[in-house]
Amino acid sequence: MTSGKASLAAAVLLALLAVTAAAAAAPLGDAAPGVAIYERCQACHSLERNRTGPKHCGLLGRPAGGVAGFSYSAALRDSGIVWSKESLERFLEAPLTAVPGTRMGYAGVKDPQERADLIAFLAAAAPCKD
Ligand code: HEC
Repeated sequence: MTSGKASLAAAVLLALLAVTAAAAAAPLGDAAPGVAIYERCQACHSLERNRTGPKHCGLLGRPAGGVAGFSYSAALRDSGIVWSKESLERFLEAPLTAVPGTRMGYAGVKDPQERADLIAFLAAAAPCKD
């Protein structure tokens, strides 16, 4: 039946559009290009040790403000955030909007694909050694 085929085609098209829309909302991250994007963060951060900003090893799953020995702002320490792909997505897009009063003086990463790649890189980083 022609109308059956047409509605099947419409359903397939709608499903494809839904997948495309979901992909546009949250692009899949790739850690390899994330390495180069992380260079922007290395003005203040490293994976292994505290600098102007706290070290980033073991970041995912840690509460915000959780690196011992780093002097955080009260705003970040008391934010109640636990770092996940979702919370990093919000924070890295606009740090000062996500956590008003944070001392991270950085405007953020505006490109959604760059953010996803950066978060994939941070998620893949080795755990802290100490
Ligand atoms: C100009 C220096 C600077 C740059 C550049 C910078 N940061 Fe930060 N970052 C900081 C400081 C300082 C803090 C601590 C903020 C606070 O205590 O409010 C921080 C905190 C963080 C935190 C919270 C960590 C924790 O232990 O709770 C994350 C995540 C983070 N930065 C990610 C990044 C990423 C990813 C980039 C690169 C896109 C970046 N930062 C660029 C200075 C910087």
